[in-house]
Amino acid sequence: MMNIILFGPPGSGKGTQAQMLKDRFNLLHVSTGDIFRNEIANGTPLGMEAKTFMDRGHLVPDELTIRLLDGFVEANSTPATEGIIFDGFPRTVPQAIALDEFMEKRNSPVMVVLSLMVDEEEVVKRLISRGLTSNRIDDANEEIVRNRLKVYYTQTAPLAEFYRNQKKLISLNGKGTIEEVFEHLCVEIFKLSE
Ligand code: AP5
Ligand code: MG
Repeated sequence: MMNIILFGPPGSGKGTQAQMLKDRFNLLHVSTGDIFRNEIANGTPLGMEAKTFMDRGHLVPDELTIRLLDGFVEANSTPATEGIIFDGFPRTVPQAIALDEFMEKRNSPVMVVLSLMVDEEEVVKRLISRGLTSNRIDDANEEIVRNRLKVYYTQTAPLAEFYRNQKKLISLNGKGTIEEVFEHLCVEIFKLSE
């Protein structure tokens, strides 16, 4: 199974690339952000709870996030699925530990963590510009965008070390065009099956 984590700050292109990679390699796309936004759109209690954190650019509590994973993967895997691409998950060390346990139970470990390196000014520019047309409240003002980045650097960036210790971390340049970044990611993923 080709299980991949796409890692990087908000706005680094995880969602954009995960959509393309999922089609290219026949993967199940697991984006906790998309799952939460879907719950919010459906007005579920889980969505309403998540929204209070998301709108401020804070992380949703680990317990709530981890609970989502199991149900989503069970409900959406098909026999044709050749792996999972995680986008925006895990975001904390407890989430990473929970994911390792979950994948161990499935006998299907994470193979690689592909980290998209994009500098802060570029990601702020991308998110503010999307905020002009999307209805994502967390893209709507620079203060919230900067807060998401602060949360990323304090709570999520340390995970790079966690996966470096597991010898799974590969860092890539996330600037350049969407197609260029996609090519670089594909090269790394092809290496996995060599
Ligand atoms: P989530 O939905 O995961 O958002 P995010 O990671 O903060 O950031 P984005 O999704 O905006 O960035 P991305 O890296 O996917 O980039 P994208 O491809 O969209 O999380 C939202 C919130 O949910 C969190 O703040 C938190 O509250 C909660 N949450 C989610 N997961 C959680 C978890 N595990 N634990 C706790 N809480 C959680 O691209 C961004 C923009 O840039 C787009 O407009 C795109 O078109 C553009 N773009 C992409 N690539 C390029 C390129 N190469 N060149 C130019 N523009 C580009
Ligand atoms: Mg995203």
